[in-house]
Amino acid sequence: MLEHIKSVGVVGSGLMGLGIAQVVATAGFPVTLCDISEEAVNRGYQQISKQLAKDVAKGKKEQATVDQILGNIVTTCDYGKLADVDMVFEAVFEKMEVKKDLYTKLDAICKPACIFATNTSGLSITEIASVTKRCDKVVGTHFFNPVPVMKLLELVRGYDTSDETFQIALEMGAKIGKETISVKEAPLFCVNRILVPMINEAMFVFAEGIASAEDIDTGMMLGANHPIGPLALADLVGLDTLLLVMQTLYQETCDSKYRPCPLLVQLVRAGHFGRKTGQGIYKYD
Ligand code: 3HC
Repeated sequence: MLEHIKSVGVVGSGLMGLGIAQVVATAGFPVTLCDISEEAVNRGYQQISKQLAKDVAKGKKEQATVDQILGNIVTTCDYGKLADVDMVFEAVFEKMEVKKDLYTKLDAICKPACIFATNTSGLSITEIASVTKRCDKVVGTHFFNPVPVMKLLELVRGYDTSDETFQIALEMGAKIGKETISVKEAPLFCVNRILVPMINEAMFVFAEGIASAEDIDTGMMLGANHPIGPLALADLVGLDTLLLVMQTLYQETCDSKYRPCPLLVQLVRAGHFGRKTGQGIYKYD
């Protein structure tokens, strides 16, 4: 099935889109990285290039390999350049209206056989697909941050996702070096349904003054063997993204146990999104 995929588009040059572009280009696919502003895609390309240069410095990759990976990526803000790609990975802002607007546009631009793979933390694949005329070719591909490091790819079927599309997603996952898990559509799917309420609970523990941020994180690292604590992880993922994801769970289930921690809401209102803005629960240089 994967032999039908010769070229790939990645839409969105944020944290996730860049990581996806990097791993797909590393697997040898020509990648068209697309975003609304030229400045954003150019900055994104530089970030990928910097990340790969670190691998060369550490002796993990040859310079020639890095040149090849970078040579596989072209950047553009002209969505028309996606007309001929065989598969699009989309990683735009985690808001249903934003995704629907984009897919309406992509559906008109991309060839009918093109597969749409949406990287969402928990939005309905079925609803995203509903604005296209190819609901059978839309699949959820949920990557984890940092994409080049995290082994997992969570694959989610929408109501109309075909077996063929799902098979292509499975094969693509293997080709880009990820372990896949297959999950039914449900708010936040599988991993985030467990992980995000845990992070939200850590925010409550912090906001209630039960322990310092450092002690909460040390507690979960040493007591539960997590690689980093939940509050440091919140800053890594982005508090803005976490809030949107938590709100999806709360709104979709109408269950008060999933209400976002007020401190999370307040930090996002203050523009403190975590590492990417230099301040979240912690401060960064
Ligand atoms: N891109 C590429 N590589 C990166 C990277 C990045 N952004 N950040 C770190 N790395 C690499 C480093 O180069 C290093 O590689 P090396 O071992 O070959 O030298 C390795 O990862 C370890 O990095 P560091 O030594 O700098 O730091 P840490 O040991 O603290 O590891 C971490 C960093 C891998 C991010 C680790 O802290 C970790 O595993 N954290 C948990 C991440 C996690 O849980 N992610 C899931 C978030 S939830 C999500 O994404 C879902 C969404 O929908 C909300």
